[in-house]
Amino acid sequence: MNRPEIILAPGPTPIPPEVLLAQGSPLVYHRGPGFGALMRDVTDRLRELYRTDRADVLLMTSSGTGGLESAVQNALSPGDEVLVPLAGYFSERWTKLAKAFGLQVRTIEYDWGRKVVPDEVAAALAEHPAKAVLLTQSETSTGVIQPIEELARVANEAGALVIVDVVSSLGAVPFDFDGWGIDVAVGGSQKALSASPGLAFVAISDRAWEAHRSATMPRFYFDWSIYKEFADKKDPENPWTPAISVMQGLQAALELYFQDGVDVALARHRRLSRGVKEGVQALGLDLFGEGLEDNWTVTAIRAPESIDADTICDRIRSDFGCVLAPGQGPLRGTVFRIGHFGYFSELDILRGLAALEMTLERLGHPVKRGAAVAAAEGVFQEAHGT
Ligand SMILES: Cc1ncc(COP(=O)(O)O)c(C=O)c1O
Repeated sequence: MNRPEIILAPGPTPIPPEVLLAQGSPLVYHRGPGFGALMRDVTDRLRELYRTDRADVLLMTSSGTGGLESAVQNALSPGDEVLVPLAGYFSERWTKLAKAFGLQVRTIEYDWGRKVVPDEVAAALAEHPAKAVLLTQSETSTGVIQPIEELARVANEAGALVIVDVVSSLGAVPFDFDGWGIDVAVGGSQKALSASPGLAFVAISDRAWEAHRSATMPRFYFDWSIYKEFADKKDPENPWTPAISVMQGLQAALELYFQDGVDVALARHRRLSRGVKEGVQALGLDLFGEGLEDNWTVTAIRAPESIDADTICDRIRSDFGCVLAPGQGPLRGTVFRIGHFGYFSELDILRGLAALEMTLERLGHPVKRGAAVAAAEGVFQEAHGT
């Protein structure tokens, strides 16, 4: 029987019915008061999520990578030096993107799964200044949440722009654009907010606007000045035809997210993360990556030695319709990942853990039936005060 897949992967995340209905409703024409109100509402909510009173937040029709590209194009000039602490697939993507635009890229290399060390970034900047530091808050490939507050502090002290990829973290873990001194932060619609893919949002500080004014990188579609000119109209607009339906869905997703407030959403992410981590450990599996207590978006798990991690992902999908994510880069085959950010409930997690238990048993790994589910239930009941 053809049932919807159970997605426990790090994005796109499952979309709530309210969001599906909103994005399936008639289009609001993109020039005029209706769309203006929609854009204003979405932008205001996102500014609250970014925790900024000062920054502009621009909405762009693209996946998250387009927003990242816009940061490089708008704040920097060919030949500028940037520093990238490299600790996984998405920080590696920063280096590829920066090189493609003719930037001079220096890296500080860490083994995948490590946390970036702010003092080492400070030392690298003291030895050799950079125009910008390109950071990734949630390194989705390893599950590690990087210490952005401290990294931004050392980058600020060295006079470098702080440009952060928050695609898989905004809304799932704490973030404070103004308080941490961030210059550019790029998020996406399809991750912790559980809207459809198709929109990137870019928060921009005064300092980043100043850099933009003298930046000479070629740009057109993603030119921040053009976006701002249209966003500042009496009825805000996008310069180009936007993904209107996705925006309508995103509005509904933000409405849902803010129903209980940011703190409740963050606490849910922490609780679900603990449930997953304790659950898989109860099956005798080892977790991967540093700072597990803080890693509320994705759990990276080492497969048992005798089983290829990709086989676990393939089997759980074919037997149960449950989508987990394979390991990336050097972790391919040895690590698999469970995403638990977005519109997930405790029962969604228990269902995924039950499927994992049965899959491992079918693949010959000795499993105490119900152990993962019981451990996760323990976390959830304790949080409930039961
Ligand atoms: C941390 C991070 N950055 C960037 C991206 C790329 O986003 P997109 O696929 O929306 O372009 C992802 C997607 O998984 C991500 O997790």
